Amino acid sequence: MTNTSSSVSLEALASLCKRRGFIFQTSEIYGGLNGFWDYGPLGCELKRNIKQLWWRHIVQSRDDVVGLDSAIIMHPRVWEASGHVQGFTDPMVDCRACKKRFRADQLYEEVGPEHETGSAAERQLRLPAGAKCPACGAQELTEPRAFNLMFKTFVGPVEEESAVAYLRPETAQGIFAQFGNILAVSRQKVPFGIAQIGKAFRNEINPRNFTFRSREFEQMELEFFVKPGTDAEWHAYWVAERLKWYESIGLPASSLQPYVYRKDELAHYAGACTDIMYAFPFGVQELEGIAARGAFDLSRHQEFSGKSMEYFDPDTQEKFVPHVVEPSAGVDRIALALLCNAYREEWIGKDGQILPAEPNTPPPEGFEMRTVLGFAPCVAPIKVAVFPLLKNKPELVQAARQIFETLRRRWMCFWDQTGAIGRRYRRQDEIGTPFGITVDFQTLSDQTVTLRERDSMRQERVSVGRLREELENRIG
Ligand code: GAP
Repeated sequence: MTNTSSSVSLEALASLCKRRGFIFQTSEIYGGLNGFWDYGPLGCELKRNIKQLWWRHIVQSRDDVVGLDSAIIMHPRVWEASGHVQGFTDPMVDCRACKKRFRADQLYEEVGPEHETGSAAERQLRLPAGAKCPACGAQELTEPRAFNLMFKTFVGPVEEESAVAYLRPETAQGIFAQFGNILAVSRQKVPFGIAQIGKAFRNEINPRNFTFRSREFEQMELEFFVKPGTDAEWHAYWVAERLKWYESIGLPASSLQPYVYRKDELAHYAGACTDIMYAFPFGVQELEGIAARGAFDLSRHQEFSGKSMEYFDPDTQEKFVPHVVEPSAGVDRIALALLCNAYREEWIGKDGQILPAEPNTPPPEGFEMRTVLGFAPCVAPIKVAVFPLLKNKPELVQAARQIFETLRRRWMCFWDQTGAIGRRYRRQDEIGTPFGITVDFQTLSDQTVTLRERDSMRQERVSVGRLREELENRIG
């Protein structure tokens, strides 16, 4: 696996994200809030594209998947049935000296892999030998204790135990709880799936790596219900489908790696689990988990609600609780992976020569630096930028505006009439706009424009009449 984005510095990326309006610290004017992020004008377009592409791939282009948009706050019994009240915990330790709190597994990361003896589960229950507080260095850490990651709130005006509710830590349980209703109305037969995109909340002990581990994030989850005994083949099918999808949005196969869980790493009810990992600058980490969860979830809701979750198979006349295969992805992690993958710095020669920039080195004589986000057109926040060559020539502005108004009906477009044309191109390169259109004096005489491509910086004359088709072919 090529560590394609390992050379990107997360600091450089976070700085560009802030400067160009992709991602801001939430409530920054009050000093921010750890683990929470706001997506600016470009960031929310990027996320919207990811979600639309996922929804089209998973729901709209298939006969066997339907959608759901369930409430964030559900009946608290949902989380008892799912096991989250009891078991959705991270073991954490407190430092008695500085009063800071850490995840037990983080201490193993700090002391190094040679201390990682025993299984992951065992390591969560004890401290590594000689563990020190990562903040103050004191050897005064408590033993690991379970800390529930769900955010608690109260429904109604009285803050008492009977009014406790939780912000959902995953969107999946909304799907399981509505299985019966959807089965009744959707005319689907097993195998079929229910998909949902929405916010999830986890009170992570150590939010870190920019947006990678946040306390509020978005999930895209599919629960695909199958006949018992067909779990393995559907699991393999969804792993392959999901890998193809990541490639289709511009993440190279060489940057993706499936991690297949060993038997001893699986939950007791799970038949298989594969994580799709991406080579982030801070290491190879999970983008999505694809788990074969058996009948666990539906059976638990059947037990806790007293409502049948059985499916009657009209072909075999059998009744059974369907098994489920669950591809579960995080929108924010995918957005971060796309940003890491897209970010590059180049040296541009006057003759159009492009060289990869060397870190912390000024460009050689005759070259200038450009920063590019090389997004695939399908995810790029802005697809086309339109420029009149000169802003003080009304005939150019008018012709360009007409093209802009036509194209913006189909794509997210950007209008920019200020500054030298080279600078305008650079501004678009930096936010990943794949195409730029310049309207100049020749446009007025022969109805052609310059179409400039971001990566190669090649420019060609295209007639205004052919522009839409030309872009359609390249953006899709
Ligand atoms: N229903 C299964 C489930 O929620 P998960 O592995 O805990 O499984 C699925 O989460 C995906 O949600 C992860 O692969 C990741 O992309 C995203 N995710 C989980 N926790 C996250 C966090 N704290 N911040 C950002 N994304 C997160």
